[in-house]
Order: sequence, then structure tokens, then C-alpha cells
Amino acid sequence: MCGIFGCLGGQNLITQTLQGLRLLEYRGYDSAGIVYRTSAHKLRVIKALGDIDCLTNQIKTRPDTQLCLGHTRWATNGGVTLKNAHPQVSFNKQIAVVHNGIIENYATCRTQLMEKQINLKTDVDTEVIPNILYLLKHNKHNIHNFLHGQYVFAATDITAAPGFFVAKRGTLPLHIGKAADTIYLSSDLLAFPPTVQSLITLNDGDTGEITTNAIKFYHLGKPITKNWQPFTAFSEQTDKNGFNTYMAKEIHEIPTVIERLVTDYQQDNDLLLRQREFHHLLSKANCVHLCACGTSYHAALILAHLIEKHLHQRAIAHVSSEFTDDSLIDEQNLAIVISQSGETADTLTCISTLQAHHVPIVALCNVTSSSIAQQSQLCFPLLCGPEIAVASTKVFCAALLVGCLLINRFDPADFTALSALARTTLRDARQLIKLPATRPQKIFFIGKQIDYFLALESALKVKEVTYTHCEGYPANELKHGPLSLVDSHSLAVVYQGNHTDNAVAEIAARGGQVINLPPLTPDNPLSFIVRIIPAQIMALDMAEQLGINPDKPRNLAKSVTVL
Ligand code: G6P
Repeated sequence: MCGIFGCLGGQNLITQTLQGLRLLEYRGYDSAGIVYRTSAHKLRVIKALGDIDCLTNQIKTRPDTQLCLGHTRWATNGGVTLKNAHPQVSFNKQIAVVHNGIIENYATCRTQLMEKQINLKTDVDTEVIPNILYLLKHNKHNIHNFLHGQYVFAATDITAAPGFFVAKRGTLPLHIGKAADTIYLSSDLLAFPPTVQSLITLNDGDTGEITTNAIKFYHLGKPITKNWQPFTAFSEQTDKNGFNTYMAKEIHEIPTVIERLVTDYQQDNDLLLRQREFHHLLSKANCVHLCACGTSYHAALILAHLIEKHLHQRAIAHVSSEFTDDSLIDEQNLAIVISQSGETADTLTCISTLQAHHVPIVALCNVTSSSIAQQSQLCFPLLCGPEIAVASTKVFCAALLVGCLLINRFDPADFTALSALARTTLRDARQLIKLPATRPQKIFFIGKQIDYFLALESALKVKEVTYTHCEGYPANELKHGPLSLVDSHSLAVVYQGNHTDNAVAEIAARGGQVINLPPLTPDNPLSFIVRIIPAQIMALDMAEQLGINPDKPRNLAKSVTVL
């Protein structure tokens, strides 16, 4: 979690850093901060609680500077306080650090620093880093011998030439981008401006020293060469395109994403080859494990159901954090991991477990440069472009669509018809689920089989962006407990299908309001892929009515890179 952005050389570096941080805000927005070099050869640190707007309001002047480094935080250890926000500085204020990840031996480092009369002031592990860097002086590239854990950080030292020292252990991303007169650092490629034309990505164990004149890299303390790779920035895909929120924009992109996926998966030679390879792996598997978190887990539930139904192969969906060595795995199995970001730590942990058992791993992933994509034997891109709103929408539909293409038991015409169905569903969404005049205190989404999984995903969307208590339930299970919660303050949205009438009657009899969501069309067996859209729009509209920014719900972040 957390976002790192920095720039070195060139103009308007403070403004550019704030712009970069804004694009990384999806990674966390509890607090934020920047550090820059002043003309008086000092490091000036400015921090704020809250999001990048709060930080921007704190920055009264934007002087010219040779270097600026920023951070947006999602608190893991240490509360959300100014003191704990990054950058963290060394005891003598010479070195400043922004950091993502966890320093596991932080307590030991702290004690060792205290023995050297260096007392730390905050509750965060990050603070040990600038102080250890100070003690290491010219030996900084051995930093990995002193820190344990999964981490990536960028540091700057006022006593050295203007530049960054970077280090990475584990899988958390950090990229270095080069434009004509500026060098950038970023946790995500999408934050690089359009002027960036080449790229270097840090690997596990790397350290680097970046100044305007030279860049040097080391791996586990030994010098290495890393070459610039050509890069094209995503900038035009990261604006809101006239929508008020990214969530609205991303829901409205669903028809285009569907068109792109159907065309590419049916015509692109490389994707056709990968599909063939997938079918080969699947044909040998005695059981398919699908592992994912959050929205991606709901896609996994549906795909597991479809694999069993259409291919008659055993398929089990696992919440990644519940998947363990005891999950009866062996090399005869196949694993499908689903992830938008490709950086979710719980899912990466599953991958390690699966690899230890020699299980082939196939990823359905939106970010193809991510750790999950790279650690999988075969990766199927979800081709959604950047998804910035924390609540995942278009990528859910994309994962289902790609899963159905891979299952290979549906009529191609049904795939082709799907984008038009997505468009009419978007148009009719507010008729299909009409928001009640008064805000319900509790909401239930109910359905059977695939519709039950859609109910889970609908409830997650509403929970994430409206802070309303909301449950997804199997229609016939309601009477086995949750019905006790139903009263005149409850709303039930029913994915109408066979055998949902009893549940409707039971809710209505207890004074609960019911909205029936009929099937979109009986003709297309893939219509469930876009049947989620009305619930996504419902969540979005409720958030806007409540004055909640659905792109940045409280306490959440888009990519959860901690366990
Ligand atoms: C976080 C996000 C969720 C997302 C989940 C899995 O919790 O807030 O929206 O569904 O991670 O993310 P992934 O990138 O692996 O799909």
C-alpha cells in the first residue's frame, strides 16, 4: 500500500509531484507529504492528514527546486497522524525517506539506533530507514542486510548531490521513468506524465543511486547494469472524461471493454495461442483452485460454478487469505488467480503456496506488468485500461468475460451481443433499481446460484462506497437467520429467478421493501456478466446522494499490498 512519486531535474517539480501523487491516491489517502530541496540547502518537509487536496492546501508556495519526493499513505502500523505521515527524516534532518511495505525487524533496528543515541520520534517503522542510511554512509547498497521484510523506499540526502537512493525487497513496485530533462519515480506506471519515454523497474534485492548526471544500480550489494526500456505513458486514459467520478466513468466503459476483449480474444494470435495452452493445462487438471480477494473473489465464485457446470471439472473458489497449505493441493491441480491490480499481497501469498506444490498458475489480471502477472505461468490480460476508483466495476465484468471465453462452451454470437446489452443495461439501470425516497438502514441483495454471487458483489459495492450495512444472501437461506433483521427499514434487491418468490414474500410480510431485478434477457446465457451494472449504478448514486466520494471510500485502498 501507499504511493511513492518523485521527480528530479526540470521545472515545476512540486506541482508535478502533487499531480503524480493524485494519480497514486488510489493506493491510500489517509495522509500525504512531500520533501524538496530549498535554495538554502535544506530539506523542506510538508505533510497533511487526509488526501492530496489537503496536502495541496498546506503548500502555500511552490519554489523552484532540483528535486521533490512525495508519498500518499494507507496506514498499516502507526496511527493516522502527521508525525507518522511520510516523508520521515533522520534525527539530524539530513535524509528524508518515503516508504511502502513493512520493516519486520523495526523493533530491533530501533533498539540498535537507541544504543547509538539516536532516538526515534514516531510510531512508524519507516523512521528507522533514514537513520540507518545515515549510519551506513557510503555503504548504503548493503541496506538489505539491515532491514527485513517486504519494502520499497526512496530517500534523498541534502549532503549529497541532488538525487534519490532507492531500494526494494519483495514485490512492491517502484519504477524509474526518464523524460528529456526530468527523472521520475513512481509506484505505478500510470502516474508517469506523457513526456516519459523510457523506463527501468526495480527488482527484488535492487538498490539504486539516481542523480541528474548518473544512475547506478546494485543487486544485493553488487554493481549491476540495468537498461532503459521504451515506454509510452497512459496519461490520456487517466482523466475522468467528463464524468464526475472515476467510478462513473469506469462503469460506463464496460461496453467498450467488452467489445475490446471479444475482438482481441477471438483474433489476436498471441491470445489465441495462450487460450490453447490454457485448454491443455485444464485438460490435465483434476481440480481447479481459483484464488482472489474482494470483487475478484466474487468473479472467482462465478467462474468456479461455471467450470463445474459446463466442464464437469471440480473447481473451488478460495478467498486468497484463507488458502493454505492444507487446501489439498498437488501438481495435478490447476490454479486460476484473479486480480485487478496484480499486487494483492494475499493473492501473492497463495501463489507462493501453489508454486511450492508445483501447481501451474494462470492469472486473469488487468495490470500485466504486475507481480501476479509476472509470477504466473500464463497471464490473460483483462484489457480494461487503468481502473482508478477503489470499488472495482469494469474489471469485474472483464474477469467474468475472459473466464467465459476460456471455458469455451458459449456461442460466439452471445459474446458479440453482450456489449449492446451492456449499453441498454446502463441506459435502463436507474429504472431497474429505483432508489427509495428514504435511505434504507439495511440492504439485502438476494439471488440463487450465479445471482447469489452477483448479490455478494452488489452488496460489496454498496458497502464500499455508501457505508451502509448491506448483505448478499442466497434467496432460500434468508429464513435460516437473517430474516430476523428484516423490518420496515430494510430494503431487499432480489435478483429475480426461479425460486426467489418465497424470499420476496417473506421479506414483504415483515414490512421490508422489495425491488425485483428481472433477468436482462432469457436469450443470452452470458447476460449475467452485465447484470451487475444496475447495482453498481445504485451504489454510485447512493454515494453521491450521501456526499461520499465513491472513488476514495474511507479506510480502503485500491491495491492492498500488505497481508
Ligand atoms: C482491495 C480493493 C477491492 C479489490 C480487492 C482485490 O480490497 O479495495 O476493491 O476487489 O482489493 O484486489 P485485486 O486487485 O487483487 O483484484
